[in-house]
Amino acid sequence: MTTQRERTYLMSPPEHFAVEYAINPWMDTTAPVDTELAVKQWEGLRETLTRLGHTVHVLRPEIGLPDMVYAANGAFSVDGVVYGARFRYPQRMAEAAAHKRFYAELGWKYTTPVETNEGEGDFTYLPSYLGGVVLAGHGFRTEVAAHSEAQEALGRPVISLRLVDPRFYHLDVALAPLDDSNITYYPGAFSESTQAVLRQLFPDAVIADEEDALAFGLNLVSDGRNVVLNTEATALAAKLRSAGYVPVPVELTELKKGGGSVKCCVAELRP
Ligand code: ARG
Repeated sequence: MTTQRERTYLMSPPEHFAVEYAINPWMDTTAPVDTELAVKQWEGLRETLTRLGHTVHVLRPEIGLPDMVYAANGAFSVDGVVYGARFRYPQRMAEAAAHKRFYAELGWKYTTPVETNEGEGDFTYLPSYLGGVVLAGHGFRTEVAAHSEAQEALGRPVISLRLVDPRFYHLDVALAPLDDSNITYYPGAFSESTQAVLRQLFPDAVIADEEDALAFGLNLVSDGRNVVLNTEATALAAKLRSAGYVPVPVELTELKKGGGSVKCCVAELRP
């Protein structure tokens, strides 16, 4: 059963986007990036979300923070409470403060983390599953200790999921909520034991294959019905359509060069 809801998102335009360093296997500092095209494609994503009836806040990008466009990494919020990010790599650390200022202006309660964690890159939330659970990834960026820190900050149960394939270094490139209680994921991104956990918890999940995952198909944003995803993920789009969702493809070729797609660019604010 789909549970479509209007959402509020936060995005930051790629005006200063570049691949100046390589902190994931997708980043190649020698490959040229067309920043103008990146901005155009980002605008297309923003317009798509607005057209679907959602609210999009914009966070001003900062010079010297080329990955700031991946707004999902800046924090994670549930019920108007924010668990802040603490980035793994020094190149991105200053982004957390920009997000913190944004939530301060909204007046939301903010917990500054001690443990390394990359916000919605590794955390996601299913409001109707068991009354509200957090799914959390670890293995590459977020420390498993951050999972219990998030549980204490948010007062919601956190289920730890272990990522094992460096190409899928964040949870949000390997798994995505489709509605308030169901998910889609690529099993191969997770350890054998985590795969067993996911099979137990989500028997009705939409299973993606390696090709879907490599096309960044799982790096999607769903409002419970409309599923905004990378145009290249055509096979996954077909699977989602037969599962009752409406795939909405968007082109984001330039941002793929930094190792991200739709979801990486969109943080959800959960009041
Ligand atoms: N270049 C960025 C990094 O490696 C990409 C982040 C992608 N964001 C995401 N939510 N998966 O940190």
